[in-house]
Amino acid sequence: MYADLQRELDNFERRTPKSAEAHKKNLKRIPLGVASNYRAYDPYPIFVQEGQGGKFRDLDGNEYIDHNLCFGALMAGHCHPAVMKAVQQRLHTGTMFGMPHNMEWELAEEICARFPVEMVRFGSSGTEATMHAVRLARAATDRDKIIKFEGGYHGLHDAALVSVKPHAPEFGDINDPTPVPGGLGVPKASIANVQIATFNDLSSVERRFKQNAGEIAAVILEPIMMNVGLCMPQPGFLEGLRSLCTKYGALLIFDEVKTGAKLGWGGASEYFGVTPDMICLAKSIGGGFPLAAFGTHKSVMDLISQHKVFHGGTYNTNPVSMAAGLATFREVLTRENYAHVDKLSKKLTDGYKKIVTKSGLNAYIASAGANGALMLQPNEVRNYRDWLNIDIDLWRLYWFGMVNRGVMCQPYWWDEQWTISVQHTEADIDKHLAVFEEVAPMLSKAQQESTAAVAVH
Ligand SMILES: Cc1ncc(COP(=O)(O)O)c(C=O)c1O
Repeated sequence: MYADLQRELDNFERRTPKSAEAHKKNLKRIPLGVASNYRAYDPYPIFVQEGQGGKFRDLDGNEYIDHNLCFGALMAGHCHPAVMKAVQQRLHTGTMFGMPHNMEWELAEEICARFPVEMVRFGSSGTEATMHAVRLARAATDRDKIIKFEGGYHGLHDAALVSVKPHAPEFGDINDPTPVPGGLGVPKASIANVQIATFNDLSSVERRFKQNAGEIAAVILEPIMMNVGLCMPQPGFLEGLRSLCTKYGALLIFDEVKTGAKLGWGGASEYFGVTPDMICLAKSIGGGFPLAAFGTHKSVMDLISQHKVFHGGTYNTNPVSMAAGLATFREVLTRENYAHVDKLSKKLTDGYKKIVTKSGLNAYIASAGANGALMLQPNEVRNYRDWLNIDIDLWRLYWFGMVNRGVMCQPYWWDEQWTISVQHTEADIDKHLAVFEEVAPMLSKAQQESTAAVAVH
């Protein structure tokens, strides 16, 4: 371990004793002491007290500029005034009915105005949205198999939990990736229906179509793969997928759980000019409340209208989340706010690039819309396997170094990325950059140590 990383970890433990204590209590009753495995990390996760705007405070009273933002689900920032007002008004008039209401068509209209879909159904999580989208695609094509990309994350249902973070030797050859379950309990029968392809490699997709002639219902992907830092589709990749899906009669599903709200006003289809058949939305569309949606052509949704595909859910369109969602679409995810975030994003990205060059760090910055990441790889990551060669301790040095100086630069885990909220300010970005300027020389020194050590061996 790098000496500086050990120092940062010691400093982390000195600054956050109340989190350590709280984690110990949680561990007695809650596996890993957290409510989602992604929230667990060593030595223990920071426990949160409160958040406002672009910042939060932990149990020990330390303040952080927050670019974690609930794993990118809070482009609105904490307690956005418009969302809070809408929710507070709604709280006095009933929170759940399990009955239709007037906010449903209003929000459906907002979604259909921005995204190339004709009809929408709602849910509470991204997992639900991708699960129902996949089922609908299977029903619409009368086929069982789907193609997903190695390293892609689409939530926790059986069709999605395949080859999320697979390793050698199980994952096989890059030209013929083996489907690997993302943990125990995923049925073999379900894995057999998930064909794995390599991101940015159209030939790997066409091979799957040919090997499974007439059996592929859909291709599902994040238009920008954000489970490996930030991996951009290379020019022509999304267009190529569109053509292949049309050619082989499969549906193209854009999982826009992250990109839908954060890439720009019209999500990935507007940004890249490629039109999918289905779109899955969640995270930032709820402005801090659980809200998800999936949308597609009327002809596909007719399967639900005709009672051929079943979709339901007690919490669907609960009025509190819907009020938050409406306020988010109308007052948070506005063209003006996207311009503000784009400006901050450019400032942050340009600043990082300058500091990386100045410090001699062998790394690059990837960014798109509200998201970005310091990529500790020498070359651009184009697929999951490119990303695997990351120096994890170097990344941990970055994260703990930043956190100890008051900037949660992204969620913990080196597969994540930063989010800039509409409530962040130029001053927040200045502070972020000032802290990175302090941390970068440490990273550069560590990188040189590790290169020297490799050379000796
Ligand atoms: C691209 C993508 N799809 C789906 C999901 C699952 O969403 P949820 O955690 O709301 O179930 C996530 C969550 O991180 C995601 O990033």
